[in-house]
Amino acid sequence: MSFKDPSSLKIKEYTIPFLDDRSDEMVVALVGDLHIGPITSEKQIGFLKTGLKKIKPDVILLQGDLIDSPEFLDEPKYFRKTKQVLKFLSELAPTVTVFGNHDLFISTRKNRTRSEKPIIPEGTFEKWEAIFKETGVKLLKDEWFTLGDLRVFGFFQDKVCFEKDGKTGENYQEMRKKLKKLAETGKLETKPGKFNWFFSHAPIHELVKMKELRGFEAFSFGHTHGGCVPRGVDAIVDKFGLHGGLIAPTKGFFPREQIRGMEILPNRARLIVTSGLSGVTATALKPLQYLNFLKSAEITKITIKGI
Ligand SMILES: [Fe+2]
Ligand SMILES: [Fe+2]
Repeated sequence: MSFKDPSSLKIKEYTIPFLDDRSDEMVVALVGDLHIGPITSEKQIGFLKTGLKKIKPDVILLQGDLIDSPEFLDEPKYFRKTKQVLKFLSELAPTVTVFGNHDLFISTRKNRTRSEKPIIPEGTFEKWEAIFKETGVKLLKDEWFTLGDLRVFGFFQDKVCFEKDGKTGENYQEMRKKLKKLAETGKLETKPGKFNWFFSHAPIHELVKMKELRGFEAFSFGHTHGGCVPRGVDAIVDKFGLHGGLIAPTKGFFPREQIRGMEILPNRARLIVTSGLSGVTATALKPLQYLNFLKSAEITKITIKGI
């Protein structure tokens, strides 16, 4: 038993029917919150590789937080590990990613607190660009990626999206503004008859109902790590179709943004949150983080099926 490592791998599986006469199906794997650095072990990376080989995805969506802090891009050990993992993924299936807060901003665990503004070290974007080029992973910064009938839009949650009242934190007002601007310039234009998928790092439960996002069939996010909930409780809540956080720092008890799993929105679009591979210490303040000591690492498998 470990307080740090997930003790097993859970592959969460969902099917989304698609109104199309296609007889084939498409498998999308959601991988989130790798947090490569001191908190991620070989065991977790091993889970990831074994799980994905089993799933045999047609496409992999990386939900962000690939590394635990951009400062680790300067540490050869973690720099190499990041490249090795990303290469494995893109060799297995076409892999697209968005940036998570930990990929860009100095981690709260490294000489910083949440009461400070997010800081992006100089050269971070250039370093990531070189890594993505070398490994064949496609970064989506407010861009589309198309594979057959699947169209994926990667929403870039930049610095303004993660700064609130001069502190680090999700700023939904800024995100709404950014989405409206993207819609005005035609960047969010969905195509009827295609499966339009929106993905970004931090969940935006309230914003998915914006009229500008009406044409999307699915939304997926990471970032939550599921809040703090022991594995046994996960299994019980799963029976009701959802599993989620009991408590999260700054968000209180049962925060809606921490709910994992898949829910069906009133317009039939799917909202999926994957809790990813991350170690538990990332999700709560001591001693609450230990509530999570038996959490599983998680990969989400979505099958899009014609009906
Ligand atoms: Fe994360
Ligand atoms: Fe995150």
